[in-house]
Parts: sequence; structure tokens; C-alpha cells
Amino acid sequence: MPIAFTEKNRIFHLSTKHTSYLFRVFENDYLFTLYYGKKLRTADMTHHWQVYPSGFSPIDQTFTDHDFSQDLMMLEYPVYGHGDYRAPAVCVRFPNGSRLLDLQYEAYSIQKGKLPLDGLPCTDGAEETLYILLRDRKSGLGVRLSYSVFYEEDVIARSAEIINSTNDTVILTNAMSMSTDLPIGDFDMISLDGTHIRERQIERKPMRNGTQSVESRRGASSHHHNPFAVFAAPHTTEFAGDAYGVMLVYSGNFLLRAEKDAFSSVRVQAGINSFDFTWELAPNESFITPEALLSYSDKGLNRLSQQYHDLIRTHLGHTKTVGKRRPIVINNWEATYFNFDEQKLIDLIGSCKGLGIDVFVLDDGWFGHRDDDRTSLGDWFTDKRKLPNGLYPLIEACQSVGMQFGLWFEPEMISEDSELYHLHPDWVIGEPGRTFCRGRQQLILDLSREDVLSYICGAVRRILRENRISYVKWDMNRHMTDAYSRLLPPQKQPEIYHRYIKNLYRLLDTLTKEFPDVVFEGCSGGGGRFDAGMLYYTPQIWTSDNSDAIARLRIQYGTSLAYPPVCMTAHVSASPNHQLGRTTPFQTRGLVAMSASFGYELNPLNLTDDERAMIAEQTAQYKKIAPLVVSGDFYRLISPFEDDDCAWIFVSKDRSEAFAIYARQLLRPASNGRRIRFAGLDPEADYYIEELQRTFGGDELMYAGLSVPVLFDFHAVSYTMHRVN
Ligand code: GLA
Repeated sequence: MPIAFTEKNRIFHLSTKHTSYLFRVFENDYLFTLYYGKKLRTADMTHHWQVYPSGFSPIDQTFTDHDFSQDLMMLEYPVYGHGDYRAPAVCVRFPNGSRLLDLQYEAYSIQKGKLPLDGLPCTDGAEETLYILLRDRKSGLGVRLSYSVFYEEDVIARSAEIINSTNDTVILTNAMSMSTDLPIGDFDMISLDGTHIRERQIERKPMRNGTQSVESRRGASSHHHNPFAVFAAPHTTEFAGDAYGVMLVYSGNFLLRAEKDAFSSVRVQAGINSFDFTWELAPNESFITPEALLSYSDKGLNRLSQQYHDLIRTHLGHTKTVGKRRPIVINNWEATYFNFDEQKLIDLIGSCKGLGIDVFVLDDGWFGHRDDDRTSLGDWFTDKRKLPNGLYPLIEACQSVGMQFGLWFEPEMISEDSELYHLHPDWVIGEPGRTFCRGRQQLILDLSREDVLSYICGAVRRILRENRISYVKWDMNRHMTDAYSRLLPPQKQPEIYHRYIKNLYRLLDTLTKEFPDVVFEGCSGGGGRFDAGMLYYTPQIWTSDNSDAIARLRIQYGTSLAYPPVCMTAHVSASPNHQLGRTTPFQTRGLVAMSASFGYELNPLNLTDDERAMIAEQTAQYKKIAPLVVSGDFYRLISPFEDDDCAWIFVSKDRSEAFAIYARQLLRPASNGRRIRFAGLDPEADYYIEELQRTFGGDELMYAGLSVPVLFDFHAVSYTMHRVN
């Protein structure tokens, strides 16, 4: 049974295949965390209840143990105002000005499976869900916590519902999706930080006393911090040691924080950022938080990542891409930028003949009168100057060379130079009478409004209905400022960020359900909204606007800590690279991009015959290894953040096939050759390596390692392994 309740001690025990999560209804019906970690068969954890008296920790009068203080205990969903000075999980303001809450246990229920989360993206297919109802007895306000157990994946999905069962309107000022107190605070916090064209770089720092956090106040999850963190024991490596992961399924302002207290316990919380957030709750209304996904591994970071990869690949999102190879794309952005017309695109498409590419994606510049980034966002009809016959001739051209057609949109945005802006200048986010900040020359549509939502939905729907389109790239190229909605009443203004995201989800839900065969790719100036919320609707995301293969080693390696490689779109682009000016071999660009959802971002007309031949080889190679990218286990082997090199391997679940790459960032002068120790193979089996045309034992490849050549800067090699016995 994944979820058990022991009446005697009032202990809840949530079990996954390798982990246990326990909490208890304690004296006076308070809910205390007991344990999260490696699996326990049974647990009588009552002996853990020794409390050391501590000065300045307030004592609840009603407890029989007069040394008891909530300030010292591990609390499952802490509140503000009743003895605990650490960060609360939930805060409200009552009409009388009181902010005090005291949540006590009322009831529980266990249900098979898992329910959807009120229009928010979330996982599905859990074995069981536990609901715990807590109540503030003075006001009557309720909180329902939910815990869904993914047994095989070792993940527990949590969220909270704040239920206003009082007779008055209350203001919610903070509602975390989860809070958990870990008793041992000796952790490193690992987060994925960066900026545009340098996303998700791995940062690992020992935790100090006090609060450490990553957050976004940008209206999107952002390039700067990702809604994901790992708390790892100091000696945890990729292959050994304790690691706790927290991932938020949310794409807006988030907060992921860890507070290490004087007693070295750590409170970990994740949820919507309470910065500039309040939510008005009328009587009988409730607020549901986004989902947080917790996972634990005692086998290091690779195992933890694999648990998330398995969960995301099979339990997040309703698209038909699950288990399938993603199309090989050619995108014209870096090939033409805004500078194209019908003939130029038809020539480009024609030149893809025989290259093995599945979809041509027409990027920015096809609509309104968009010759640069100052105009036309919002005018989702073809630019008659560039495309006098619409999209039709391009779609025909694609079909004549065996490709499908895809299209770029940036639906959430508006240019002041657009027909839409002239009709609806009031549709933008911003307070009238103030000047607004532009980002990339554009403003943001106020998607918290129903009229804006239905305009965008209609505009995208029309294009998708009228044309044979199999792929949509959904972009979002600036972050929010001037957060003010003209339709929201004053007390609801701080709801704008979350309302925007909820309507974005509604919009994506409608369109992805209406066009189930279209692959939706997410994008936000590359990887500025690379989060589990977006992955629910857009099963792959353009990982970064930085398409340089060497920079991509770090970006993709970092991203893989949380998200499966198949969710990352990666393209071979021209060399020298447009963002960094670096010259890299075609092979390196191919191998790095192939370790993800693969494609090209260049003009085949500008290539040599040799390079064109290499594209044909690469697409053929990718089609062979794609099942590994789609559903294999991914192991990080050599970190580009810590080494001059980088290596990783994909291994099929049955360990019969594997694909590894080894790449050089910078060659240290006079360095010897090295051996790479692979992982995930069957030590009892032998593997034929295609590139070497030789067979090695799985044990030799993993324990002794394979000697790899001394590579020059920016070169890379691959090892494609087939089990032979
Ligand atoms: C963003 C995307 C790019 C491209 C441009 C078009 O920067 O990340 O891939 O689509 O917009 O303007």
C-alpha cells in the first residue's frame, strides 16, 4: 500500500519503491513531519519526540509537555503567528486585521489515482492520493493538503487548497505548494541559474544558517532561476549519496527557499512567490496552489534526475508525443532572420530534399509587416509583401520534399506598431498615465482579461485551421513590468501575475486539445520559461538562444539535472556561431544537438556538399538513437562545469543499447589521453561499439573505462553501443 495510516500513533506513511515520507498527527492535533528519505518497512517514530528546551522559543500553553514549542518542531504545513518563527507556508488577512492562523488536523481520506488541479498543469497517473484537512478552529478557514504517490518513479506530488469556509472575505497573502522540515541541515543547495543565452548553469553551494532561495519576480519562471532545486549531502556525487529534489510545476513568479535554523534543521518550501501577490477569497471560494514534485535518492544526482525524467516523460502532459521520436526540425531563424520572401523560403525548403528532415519551421517575420522586432506582434495574418500567396506555397514546397510545415507565434505580445494596438491600446499590461517599459521593443497583452484570451485563441486557431501545420513554436520574448490590469478592481491588482499564468494555461490547454496532432514547442528567448508547467503543454522547449555547441554542453548538462533531454530542443547551427563567434566542427554540433530533440538552424543552401552529406548522415544516425533519447536512462559522466571535457551516456531501460558522447571544451596543453568510465550498462554483457568496430565487456566499459582519444578544442566523438550477448 503506497499510503498507510496507523491509528495508534496517528502516523501517515507514504511509500514509493525506494523512499518513505512520514508525518504524524501530534498532541492537540498538530501535524508534524517525521521523516523523508530511504524506504522504511515500518516505523514507530515516537521515540523521536524528545524536545530540548530553548530560550526564546514560545511555548503553547495547551501542551502537556511544557517544554514544547512549535519553533523547535518539524512542521508539515506551518502557519504564521503561533510560536514558529521560521517561514510560514500559508498567510491570510482576516477582515478584523488579524493575520493569525492555527491549523489543526481534522480528517483524512485516501483515494485511488489522482485528480486534476483546477486548470493548473499537473502530473497524472499516481497510484494513490492522500488528502489531509486542517482547520483554523477560531475562524473556520480550512486547508486541504494533497500527497500523490508515484510509486515506481519515487516521486511525491504535493499541493494545497486554501478553503475559505468562513463567512467573510479573506485575503490570502502567501500559499506555498509544499513545506517540509528536514532534520539534518548539512546540505549543499544546488540550483539552476543563469541568464539569456546562459541558462541553467549548475550552482552548488553549502547551506549556511539563514534563508537561501531562488525566485522569480519577472512574471515567468525565467532564464535567471529555475523552479527546481536539489538539497544534497556535501559528499553526494552523480553516483552516490543523499539528494532531495523539489520541482514546481509552475511558469510564473515562484519562490523556492530553504531555511536552516539554529538547530540545523532545514525547512524547504516551494510555491507561488508571495512577493506582490495577494488573492481575495470570498466565502466558499478556495485557492489551489500549483503542484510541487518531491523526490529523494540515496544513489546520487543521476538517479534523482532519472526519477524526474521518468515522471515527466510519462506522467506530465496529455500530448501524443509520449514515447515517440520527436520530429527533426529545420528552423529558418538563424538562416534568414526577418529577411526572407516566398522564393527564398521555397529555395531553402527545396534544398532540404534528401536530408532526412521532418519539419520545416517558419520562424518570426511572416505576419503583419514585420521586418524587424519593432512591429506587428498581435497581427497574426501573413505579410503580403513577403508572402503574397500566404503560407500555402510553402506548405506545398514542404510536401514536395517530404516535409511537414511548422510556424512560429508569439501570441502573448503586442507591438505598438500593429493593427491590434490601434484597435485595442487598452489591452496591454500597464497603468494608464505612466510610461511603460518595452522589452525587445514590445509590450505584453493583459492575458488576465477574457477578451484578450479569446482574441489570442481565435487568432492562433484560425491559422491552424486554415493551414496544414504540424508544429507550433510558442515564443515569449520579454518579462513583465508595469504589472497593472485595467480590468481588475484595486484589491485584486496583485492577482495579475497568477491570473495571467492561469489564463496562459487555459489558452494552451484549449489549443493543444483542439489540435492534438500538432507538436507544440515552448520558447522564451530560448529557455526563459523552461519549467514543468510549460512542459505539460509544450513537450519540448527551445533550450537556449545560444546555439553554440560548446556553450550548449553546459546548458544541456545543467538542464538535465531536472528535465529529460527529450524535452530540450537543440539545433545544429552555422559556424562561426552567431551568438559567440566560435568555430566548431560540424560533428560536434551534430552530437550535442542529437542528445536532445534534434534539428537544424541554418541554410542548407550555404553548405558544402560534404556538410550536406553530413546532415543526411546525422539525421539517419539520430533516427537510430532516438529511442534512447526518448525513453532511455541518461547519465551525466563528466561535468563541463568542473572539467575541461564533458561526457554523458543514454542507456536503454533493458541495457541493450547505449549512446555516449565525449566532447572537449578546452585542451589543457600536454594532457594525456583519459579513460571514460561509462555507466548504466550490464556488467555481465558485451557491447559492440560501432565507431570503434570492437567489442568490450560492460564491466570493462564501466569499471576500467574506455581510453578516449586526445581531442582538440571543441571536438567531440560518439560511442554507439549494442549488446551482443
Ligand atoms: C526568440 C527565440 C528565437 C527566435 C526569435 C525570433 O529569441 O528564442 O529562437 O524565434 O525569438 O524573434
